[in-house]
Amino acid sequence: MVELAPSILSCDFSKLQEDLDATKDTGLKMIHIDVMDGLFVPNISFAFKIIKDIRDKNDYFFDTHLMIVDPIRYIDRFVEAGCDRLTIHYEASDSPLEAIKKIKACGIEAGISLKPKTACEKILPLLAYVDAVLVMSVEPGFGGQSFMEESLDKVKFLRKYIDENKLSCKIEIDGGIKTENVRKVIAAGCDEIVSGSDIFAKEDIRGQIEKYYQIFNEDSH
Ligand code: DX5
Ligand code: ZN
Repeated sequence: MVELAPSILSCDFSKLQEDLDATKDTGLKMIHIDVMDGLFVPNISFAFKIIKDIRDKNDYFFDTHLMIVDPIRYIDRFVEAGCDRLTIHYEASDSPLEAIKKIKACGIEAGISLKPKTACEKILPLLAYVDAVLVMSVEPGFGGQSFMEESLDKVKFLRKYIDENKLSCKIEIDGGIKTENVRKVIAAGCDEIVSGSDIFAKEDIRGQIEKYYQIFNEDSH
């Protein structure tokens, strides 16, 4: 079954918990948490305090996407805040493997992400160490951008590599996903779908999540 990971970056932060409450009892299991430092990407979002504040009120898997330089510096703090997975960027560390090993040693899941211009081949040696690979289908930094079609080839390539090598790493996609284009990313081989503006920027948050699940179910038949 494909999993949905709504990105809280598109929430109205003046009523964050209200937006999160609208996702309850929909079958949702995870939320996507975008952390940006203004260096790795040209935007700054939020970090530990907000994650910690929403942790106990939301029984979801906290899928945390670290768009920060040298993420190894802050792994302990994100673990302490209650993240269930930390996904780092290949381009953000001198030694991504060292950071991945540190994340795993903390007892949570690790993920590796790559920007649209980074070739898939570069991250292949890391796939045996991670629980998920996050394919960026927009330039990281902002919600609400258009899906880059080229990312479908990356997903297909990774699906083949992961299956042929019998790895357990999930494929997640992030950026520009909407109910209108989600079928093709599932067909390309994605296991987890991040969607921000198409869920939290919409009037009917619950209705949008239900639409995604309807599509996931039609695809599993
Ligand atoms: C972009 C973030 C995404 C973003 C997705 O850098 O990593 O997770 O929130 O938002 P949409 O779905 O609106 O493209
Ligand atoms: Zn993200």
